[in-house]
Amino acid sequence: MANIVIISASVRNGRNSHRVAIYLKRFIEELKNPSVEILDLKEYDFPVFEERLKFLNPIPAGANEFSNKLKSARGVIIVTPEYNGGIPAALKNVIDLLYDEWKRKPVAIATVSNGAFGGSQVITSLQFSLWKIGAWTVPAMFPVPNVEKTFDEAGLPLEKENTDKRATKFIAELQWCMEAASKMEKPL
Ligand SMILES: Cc1cc2nc3c(=O)[nH]c(=O)nc-3n(C[C@H](O)[C@H](O)[C@H](O)COP(=O)(O)O)c2cc1C
Repeated sequence: MANIVIISASVRNGRNSHRVAIYLKRFIEELKNPSVEILDLKEYDFPVFEERLKFLNPIPAGANEFSNKLKSARGVIIVTPEYNGGIPAALKNVIDLLYDEWKRKPVAIATVSNGAFGGSQVITSLQFSLWKIGAWTVPAMFPVPNVEKTFDEAGLPLEKENTDKRATKFIAELQWCMEAASKMEKPL
């Protein structure tokens, strides 16, 4: 199981946010320390929410696997587009599907848009939903504006040096929270 999971939240055909998920995965792999895995909501393709996972029968394909991976991760990165100023449906779907899995989980949010503002409006509603469910949102941002122009399909950033610099700060903040969370789990 991976230390850090990256939830890639865009399921749109021809999506661009996934480029940023690929970039962050590679960036973390190069740090060598934490293991990292992408949980791609497009691949999981969960049905629209009918009830929380623990009450569902039958269980949607992949849901238990997703739940276990999230539960065992020490930290989470959500890479999300902003749709009409808010959370994409596929992401809200999976937040609501689970419950305990989110409890006190350090979650860092990377927002993506093809406009100038880097999807910064989705932060408000996403952070609020994560707070409501008991996750621990990391006070760091990784906004990606103009994604089509700034990342290629393989997740390579146009301005590598500057992007890596921003990613370093973003991941360091997540790792600080992961470390703090693990200390709280140890008996004093
Ligand atoms: C339904 C829909 C709503 C969108 N709403 C916004 C928005 O509110 N703000 C914004 O900056 N971009 C918006 N976009 C454009 C996205 O920024 C763009 O699709 C970008 O590539 C990131 O999303 P993607 O992963 O779906 O490609 C919207 C796109 C769609 C499909």
